[in-house]
Amino acid sequence: MKKTKNNSEWREKYAYPILGIATISTILYLNFNDQLNFEFPIIFWQKNMGFVGVNSTNFIIINGHDDHHQDDQRVYVNGWNSYWLMEASVWDPSRSKVSKMLKRGAQMGLNVCRTWAFSDGPGPNSLQILPGVFNERVLKGLDYVIVEARKNGIRLIFSLVNNLNAFGGKAQYVKWAQDAGINISSSTDSFFADSTIKGYYKAYIKAIVARKNSLSGVIYSEEPAIFAWELMNEPRCDSDCSSILQAWITEMVAYIKSLDQKHLVTIGLEGFYGPKTAEKSKVNPGEWAASLGTDFMQNSAIDGIDFASVHAYPDSWMPHANTTAKLDFLQMWLDSHISDGDNILKKPILFTEVGYPINDKGGGISYGDTSLKTVYDSIFESAKKGQAGAGALIWQLLVEGMEEYGDRFSLVAWEQPSTYKMMVEQSCKLSNINTGKRKSAGELNGKDPCSGIKYP
Ligand SMILES: *[C@@H]1O[C@H](CO)[C@@H](O)[C@H](O)[C@H]1NC(C)=O
Ligand SMILES: *[C@@H]1O[C@H](CO)[C@@H](O)[C@H](O)[C@H]1NC(C)=O
Ligand SMILES: *[C@@H]1O[C@H](CO)[C@@H](O)[C@H](O)[C@H]1NC(C)=O
Repeated sequence: MKKTKNNSEWREKYAYPILGIATISTILYLNFNDQLNFEFPIIFWQKNMGFVGVNSTNFIIINGHDDHHQDDQRVYVNGWNSYWLMEASVWDPSRSKVSKMLKRGAQMGLNVCRTWAFSDGPGPNSLQILPGVFNERVLKGLDYVIVEARKNGIRLIFSLVNNLNAFGGKAQYVKWAQDAGINISSSTDSFFADSTIKGYYKAYIKAIVARKNSLSGVIYSEEPAIFAWELMNEPRCDSDCSSILQAWITEMVAYIKSLDQKHLVTIGLEGFYGPKTAEKSKVNPGEWAASLGTDFMQNSAIDGIDFASVHAYPDSWMPHANTTAKLDFLQMWLDSHISDGDNILKKPILFTEVGYPINDKGGGISYGDTSLKTVYDSIFESAKKGQAGAGALIWQLLVEGMEEYGDRFSLVAWEQPSTYKMMVEQSCKLSNINTGKRKSAGELNGKDPCSGIKYP
């Protein structure tokens, strides 16, 4: 009996206020989620973060409110690629994999993730269905990626279009122009030359940069969790169009900077030297590499390109070379580009894709680890001296259950203990330089992953 009485008292005293709070929450919820989309979380509070800037050959955190940083400070990058984050964020079951990937990355002390902010053409998960026509659901997926990255203290490099056909790429833009009756050759090089297509691409850039995040309310151009914009994933032209590509980069970087002065911009180059630098083109993985219309030195020197991007794929580029020759090439490739950053470009050099076949017979894991160690050691040696080797991003990480996004260079890091350990160690070593004292690079089940690591 007593119980019943108490219950009814409880109801009288508290039922109305609780209903009130529930109503207010519902109203807030509906306001934040305009299309009654109940699947995405609402954000009321976000971590403080500083923007990333450059000071000569170093990345710095500006007005850093990061947990690790006080004033303007150098920051070195240990990061990874997961190109699939936006697409996986569109639908509910895979969305949790995105959160997991970013969380696991943070636990490994990784600080930057590079991913696609493009998906062009018809298709249920396309971001841009037609020039300037967007799928709001996919944009919300991109919003979600940003919110989750910031929650984990990770910054994102967003690539804005693909050179390759995957997810549409420049071929899709050329097709759109042809469908609109523009008289252009079907060569995908028209992407860099045709004014209609350049207009499509600029409109796309503007839509992304000015996007207001539906979950956090932050405009992308004001979002510190964005590390940089990348103009294109691995630009190349089929015919000799080096001056056209140079002009395209110059025009597009100026355009982004006119809309967004807070973020860094890079090109997305693989790093091949052009024919004009004959001495350097000897470093290329083959003669073919000088005739792709790109010129690492000339392209990267363009005003507004804040840092140079380089990829490293000895196995794809030199499929017939033996292991020793591949590793020798890799060392030379690293040394040459880092020295360009220090001595000529005076810009940070970021190795934005470093890949090696994970399960190849003959190579195997130990060859892979040797490749990764070669990269990490070169970065660390340069970083230790405050020089231009600014960091590296492995290609690419997955979480369990996302194998459909895999390729022969993909791994679930924690399934390979030797690789995992190396990645964490590199995070710890770079974080040690970043903060000036040994500090946890992240947290793993409440333990400092950096404990027990020997610092040279
Ligand atoms: C840039 O680097 C110079 C030379 O190391 C240093 O004196 C200066 O304080 C740095 N500026 C910022 C904003 O970090
Ligand atoms: C398309 O352009 C080509 C090359 O400039 C030209 O020869 C051709 O006449 C043009 N076709 C049309 C329909 O304008
Ligand atoms: C590997 O290739 C290089 C260059 O072609 C050659 O000089 C070297 O002898 C080869 N090493 C082995 C172990 O086959």
